[in-house]
Amino acid sequence: MNLRRATVADLMDMQNCNLHNLPENYQMKYYLYHGLTWPQVSFVAEDHKGRIVGYILAKMDEEPTEEAHGHVTSISVLRNYRRLGLANKLMQLSQQAMKTTYGAAYVSLHVRKTNRAALALYKDTLGFEVVKIEKSYCAFDAYSMQLNLK
Ligand code: ACO
Repeated sequence: MNLRRATVADLMDMQNCNLHNLPENYQMKYYLYHGLTWPQVSFVAEDHKGRIVGYILAKMDEEPTEEAHGHVTSISVLRNYRRLGLANKLMQLSQQAMKTTYGAAYVSLHVRKTNRAALALYKDTLGFEVVKIEKSYCAFDAYSMQLNLK
C-alpha cells in the first residue's frame, strides 16, 4: 500500500471512491477546486497496481481569520481495505501538511452523528473534540469537530 499526495489526475478515482462510500457526493468542479487551490493537503492510498483505494480531500479556510485552519471535506476507504490504518495515516498526512504548509492552528470537519466508525477514528484515535451539533447538515444531524494542531 502506498500513500502519497493527490494530483489532479487522481480526482476522478477519488470521486469514484466517494460515490461508493458516502451519501455526501460532490461535483468534479469541487474536487478540482480543492486540488488546484490547496494541492498540498489532499492524499490518496493506492494498492500495488496503483488503484486508488482511499483518499482524503481537504482544504484550508476560505476566508482567512486570525488563525489559519484546515478542513477535511471528505475521507473514505474502500470496504476491502478498511481497518488497516489507512484513514488514520491519511488524516495524519493531511494534518501535517496543513500545519507545515499553511501554519494551521486547528483542523475541522463534519461527521454524521450515526457514523460510528468515523466518530471512533476522529475522537478515540486522533483526539478530535465535538464543538457543535449541526441540525440537518447535508440532511443529517452532524457533529462539528475540531482538533488543535498547535
Ligand atoms: N468501528 C469502530 N471503530 C472504527 C471502525 C469501525 N468500523 N473503523 C475505524 N475505527 C476506528 C478504530 O478506533 C480504528 O483503530 P483500530 O483499528 O486500531 O481499532 C481507527 O478508527 C483507525 O481506523 P483506520 O483503519 O485508520 O480506518 P479505515 O481506514 O478503516 O477508515 C473510515 C475509516 C474512513 C471511517 C471508513 O470506515 C470509511 O471509509 N467509511 C465510509 C466513509 C465515511 O464514513 N467517511 C467519513 C465521513 S466524515 C468526513 O468525510 C469528514
